[in-house]
Amino acid sequence: MCGIVAYIGHRQAYPVIIKGLKRLEYRGYDSAGVALLNHGMKLYKKKGKVAALEETTLGQDLEGNIGIGHTRWATHGEPSDRNAHPHVSANGRLAMIHNGIIENYALLKQELVKKGYKFHSDTDTEVLLNFIEDIQKNNESTLEEALRIALKRVVGAYVIVLIDRDNPGTLIAARKGSPLVIGIGKGEHFLASDASPIIEYTKEVVYVNDYEIAIIKPDELILKNLGNERQTPFIQKLDLELAAIEKGGYDHFMLKEIFEQPSTIYDCLRGRLDVTQGTITMSGIQNNIDKIKNANRILIVACGTSWHAGLIAEYIIEELCRIPVEVEYASEFRYRNPVIHKGDMIIAISQSGETADTLVALENAKEQGAVILGIVNVVGSSIARLSHAGAYTHAGPEIGVASTKAFTAQLTVLTMVALMIAKERNAITHERYLHLLEELNDVPEKVKQVLGTAEHIQKVALKYKDVKDALYLGRGYNFPVALEGALKLKEISYIHAEGYPAAEMKHGPIALVDELLPVVFVATRDAYYEKIISNIQEIKARKGKVIAVITEADETITGMADDVLPVPEADELIAPIISTIPLQLFSYYIGVARGYDVDKPRNLAKSVTVE
Ligand code: AGP
Ligand code: GLU
Repeated sequence: MCGIVAYIGHRQAYPVIIKGLKRLEYRGYDSAGVALLNHGMKLYKKKGKVAALEETTLGQDLEGNIGIGHTRWATHGEPSDRNAHPHVSANGRLAMIHNGIIENYALLKQELVKKGYKFHSDTDTEVLLNFIEDIQKNNESTLEEALRIALKRVVGAYVIVLIDRDNPGTLIAARKGSPLVIGIGKGEHFLASDASPIIEYTKEVVYVNDYEIAIIKPDELILKNLGNERQTPFIQKLDLELAAIEKGGYDHFMLKEIFEQPSTIYDCLRGRLDVTQGTITMSGIQNNIDKIKNANRILIVACGTSWHAGLIAEYIIEELCRIPVEVEYASEFRYRNPVIHKGDMIIAISQSGETADTLVALENAKEQGAVILGIVNVVGSSIARLSHAGAYTHAGPEIGVASTKAFTAQLTVLTMVALMIAKERNAITHERYLHLLEELNDVPEKVKQVLGTAEHIQKVALKYKDVKDALYLGRGYNFPVALEGALKLKEISYIHAEGYPAAEMKHGPIALVDELLPVVFVATRDAYYEKIISNIQEIKARKGKVIAVITEADETITGMADDVLPVPEADELIAPIISTIPLQLFSYYIGVARGYDVDKPRNLAKSVTVE
């Protein structure tokens, strides 16, 4: 979602902030702004990209060793210069940036309007800022005290960072529900929504916790809770290289991330899967294996692509472990008062680890006593920290808004988790277990082979780049792959696409089929192979165009389909990790051919930190 960058120290703050905001561009935003302190406050903000903000600041006074910068993803008030952050308080003393939503802003605003406050934006942020100013004025308190009082009344989620014109040696920040990282340098501090703007300056970071306030000077970092008690900052070392967050020669992050998959899947398996010993080692799972293996039911909670990974996991876990599994959209789960029994286990899946819907769903479930297992990509993220146990997907930073490598890493980890549980429950034969270990071990190589066919996939994609709609069909383990394929096409090419179980097609969507409709089948050789051939025939009989992901050398489907995208043979349980790759590339090439910004599709945000 939006990005926050702030700096205090001996450098000029402006270049650090602008560069940092650009590193956060992948999060998705609609306007940008910066405030600097140097003998008074300077404020620049602009609707649009960070580059537009830079143009506005050309020739302006940009001096200052302390500053805050923001990229906004509007929730309250349209994207505009006026609604862009930072906002300045009524008396002109305070400037603030904010990521998140203040839910009781309307009530607070009423109170402030009664007191004569006037507002210059439609944001909830300006309300909170003036609420803080008002407390500071009335109580003659320090900013820190006023902030503490204000936050006790605030309902919602936020990261905020404040500067005070009359106290230019201090930054004040607070967090609840949205991410904030503080980088610790020599006589300087860097604040950001994630580590990417910080990494080139320092690898020592502190992740601020919910309900903490940070008081930051060039050479001092104080953390306190809302009860004014000092907290010890837990300093961590970043295990992230700058190259990992740059494009590395590819045209787009999305393409780079698709092509990284042989190594990200390998990284995900490395140190965990040992085929010669016949073992899987994941300490987060192992340490909690009794709770996990004895679960009466597993609930998988996630959104979007991660939810699709959850659906595949449902099939795998039920098959291998014989534990009932339900897969829930986090946004529905959190509001519908779900029944959670003792002995239920929740698996949360999230690339970013910051998705608000998932996070709150988990908080509620945790309060009801559920044990939470987090499958998360971003180390130290909120969901990772909220989980009782878990396993990281180790896919590295995913910058492209459309999730690709994180999805295949999620599937890899989930399959390993299922195998560990199945083994502990004696629900799987040793031969099958060993066979699946070998199959998993072969995935990076098979994915590499699929990537080797990128040119062919591009040719096929270009044939269909002007279609208006597409239908994606699959059965069994490949049904969620179809859903994910359709989501990817929608996100990247803005072509309307639907995913369905192939057999369900005849109960409705078949009405859409005519000679213009491409139907993408995920039809690799598995238990449903014969059935899906019948479904292909049904489409062909109605003159639909068929594009099929097939197991290589499948002459039967090649003879029926208009176009085929072959992938190497794999066990049906493992096949989704491989059959999803051609669909990622198919969407990518169509999106690029249609001239869209595939890394930052319109209206989407990388990590959706609002409901
Ligand atoms: C993926 O391509 C999407 N942009 C989106 O559906 C995403 O998967 C969803 O928002 C969940 O994000 P998370 O995995 O970071 O929780
Ligand atoms: N709610 C604030 C606004 O609408 C902040 C949005 C954001 O997180 O960027 O301005």
